[in-house]
Amino acid sequence: MSSATTPIEELAQRSEDDVRERLAAGKLVEGLQHMSPAYLKGIRRILTVSADTELVSAPAYLRAAQHAPALNNFGSAVSICQDELAHAHIGYRLLGDLGVDMNALIYEREAKAFKYPYAFDVPLDSWHELVMANALYDQAGFVLLSDVHATSTFGPWKRALAKVDKEETFHLRHGRTWVKKLCADPVEKRRVQAAADWMFVLTLEWFGLPDDRKRHGIQLEYGFKGLSNDELRQAWMAAVVPFLEEVGIDVPAHRDGDRWVIDCAFPRAFDEEAKRWGDPITWEEVMVRWKARGPMNEAYVERLQRGYRQRAAHA
Ligand SMILES: [Fe+2]
Ligand SMILES: [Fe+2]
Repeated sequence: MSSATTPIEELAQRSEDDVRERLAAGKLVEGLQHMSPAYLKGIRRILTVSADTELVSAPAYLRAAQHAPALNNFGSAVSICQDELAHAHIGYRLLGDLGVDMNALIYEREAKAFKYPYAFDVPLDSWHELVMANALYDQAGFVLLSDVHATSTFGPWKRALAKVDKEETFHLRHGRTWVKKLCADPVEKRRVQAAADWMFVLTLEWFGLPDDRKRHGIQLEYGFKGLSNDELRQAWMAAVVPFLEEVGIDVPAHRDGDRWVIDCAFPRAFDEEAKRWGDPITWEEVMVRWKARGPMNEAYVERLQRGYRQRAAHA
């Protein structure tokens, strides 16, 4: 993260014991004066991932909105983009309060350094893919943010998420209403199925490495997240699979007792140009793909930074 070191960081000098004591007393962390250096580092990291994800969803959804079947549908899609920009703004503003140089972070960072999930690097090329993204990606965002809302120990973010949660519910409903409507027509349904075929597994990846590969330590202790990656993946499948089954869309997952089981190779190779899944691979190989970023990374970040660059050039 290109967070310039500023004197403000010197305010976050509590010991870990001080932070633990405050949390044990049922109090929230309200600002730098309550943070240890480790707390500051952790909260900056998770806020950056969250704000970057919100931010990049705006150009991704806006690009797909051009396929809206009618002007009022385009309006709904644009209002979702507007919500996402406001969500990103909440995260970046909080990072600004935590001593991060917001202009450097948003407008001067190189595209590859953004920390949003790889899924957004794959273009949404139709209205079908956009509404499937609302049904799948926004559900992933909702699962993650609900977890933060429930467990976060950072007061200002926790309170702000009450508004974000409500808007994400609207995005989800937009996705589901459209998926359902399109599935009533056999021709449209095939296109919805084709979208689900590449997007479902990509969203499974969104939640990151499986629990046996990743240690969370301080993330869980300080309430940066409550559920583990695998638990979040389960919560997401519990939300989306029954809905998709109801509308007749096949996805490679089924319920077995109180667990959801993935019915395909996972993780696996992804052909990002053809949007097609291939052979099983290792998580190390997945991380290579994530790190290299995908087809739209440069274009989306360029789009977000263009105005700032042009203004700076003419100043
Ligand atoms: Fe959002
Ligand atoms: Fe959203």
